[in-house]
Amino acid sequence: APAVAQSALITADRVLDVERGLYVQNPQIVVVDGRIVSLDGSGAPADAERIDLKGQTLVPGLIDMHVHLNGVADIGGYRGLQYTDSFWSVMGVPNAEATLKAGFTTVRNVGSANYADVALRQAIDAGRIEGPRIVAAGYAIGATGGHCDDNFLPPSYELPSNSTADGPGEMAARVKQMRKYGAEVIKICATGGVFSKGTTVGEQQLTEDEIRAAVEAAHLLGLKVAAHAHGNAGIKAAIRGGVDTVEHASFLDDEAIRLAKEYGAAFSMDIYNTEYTLAEGEKNGVLPESLAKERQVGTVQRESFRRAVKGGAKMVFGSDAAIFPHGLNARQFAVMVRFGMTPLQAIQAATINAADALGREADVGAIKVGAWGDMVAVTGDPLSDVTLLENPSAVIKGGERVR
Ligand code: ARG
Repeated sequence: APAVAQSALITADRVLDVERGLYVQNPQIVVVDGRIVSLDGSGAPADAERIDLKGQTLVPGLIDMHVHLNGVADIGGYRGLQYTDSFWSVMGVPNAEATLKAGFTTVRNVGSANYADVALRQAIDAGRIEGPRIVAAGYAIGATGGHCDDNFLPPSYELPSNSTADGPGEMAARVKQMRKYGAEVIKICATGGVFSKGTTVGEQQLTEDEIRAAVEAAHLLGLKVAAHAHGNAGIKAAIRGGVDTVEHASFLDDEAIRLAKEYGAAFSMDIYNTEYTLAEGEKNGVLPESLAKERQVGTVQRESFRRAVKGGAKMVFGSDAAIFPHGLNARQFAVMVRFGMTPLQAIQAATINAADALGREADVGAIKVGAWGDMVAVTGDPLSDVTLLENPSAVIKGGERVR
C-alpha cells in the first residue's frame, strides 16, 4: 500500500449525508492525495482510478471510539501470562487489518502497553501495514490497584508501571509522559471494571481533583480525555472533572445524563460485547469474577443507554473491540437500535458525533470536501436495516479500495 493514497473517482447510486440524514443520488466523489476534492466529478485528474460501485450506497468510513487493537478476545484472564510482552504488539497487525476491512477507517485506541498503538499508527500512516487511522492513548492511566493497573501478580513480582498515578500531580505527569511518546488522546480509569482483577464496577478510583488535573494537563496540550467509568459516582466525577467522553457509562441516573449535557461530555457505551462475553468468556479463560461482574453490568448498561438516548445526551460509537474479535465491531449497530436509537442515530454516533468528540470533524466522519476519502459501501438501505453495515461490499480509505 502506498504511503500517500492516490487519486480516485468513486461513483455509486447514492451517498448518505449523515449531517442532514438524507441520501444524495449519483455521487461522483473525487479524491486527490487521500482527500475529497469534489462530490460531482469536478477536478478529477485524468489518471484517477475509477471505482464504480453501481447499485451501492455509500456511508462515511466508520469510527470506533473504543478499541484495544492489541487485545485478543480468545485469550482471557491468566492465559495471557503465557505470552511474551511483544506478542500483543504483533497481534495488533492482523487486528488493525480486520478492523479496517470491517469498515472502521478510524479508531480511538484507548489503552495499550509498550506504546504498541503508537507503533501501529506509525506503520499504518507510513503505508507499511494496513489498518485504520488510529488515535492512540498509549497507556491507560489510573490509581494503583485500579482498573488500569495490572493486578494479576503477587507483590514479589511487582514492577514499575506506566499506567499508575496517585494524586493530581502524578496524573498530570503521566499525561505529559503519554504525550511525549506519541499519545493523541488520554485514557483514564475513574472506576473499577469488569475485566480487572479485584475491583468492583461501582467503586470510584480517582477523585474529581485527580480527574481534573489529568484533564487540565491534557487540554493544555490539545488532547481530549476519555474516562472509563461504570459506577454512578465515578461517572459524575469524570463529567465534573471535565472529561470529553465517558466510556461504558453503565450506571446512569437522570442527574448524570443532565450533567453530561451541561458539560458537553459524550457517552461511549459498549453495549454489544455483553453477548460475546457471556457466550464465550468462560471458554476463553475469562476470570469467574469478571463473568459475574458482566452479569451485573450488561442489562443495566443497556437500560442506561436507552435513557441517555431519550434524554438527548451526545452519543458516540465505542465497542471495546478486543473483548470480542476485531472486525465484528459493526454488530453493535443493531444493539444500539434495539435499545432506542434510529438507524440514522446509530450511524451518526459512529460518524459525525465521533468525529466531533475526536476534534477531527474536518478530517473524518462525513463524505465532504476536505475530509479524507474514507467510505463504506453497502447494498441496500442502511437507514432501514442497520445490520447491512456488518458486511460492507467495499471499504475505501483515503481513496484507496481496501476491500
Ligand atoms: N473494559 C470494560 C471493563 O472491563 C468492559 C466492560 C464490558 N462490559 C459491558 N457490559 N460493557 O470494565
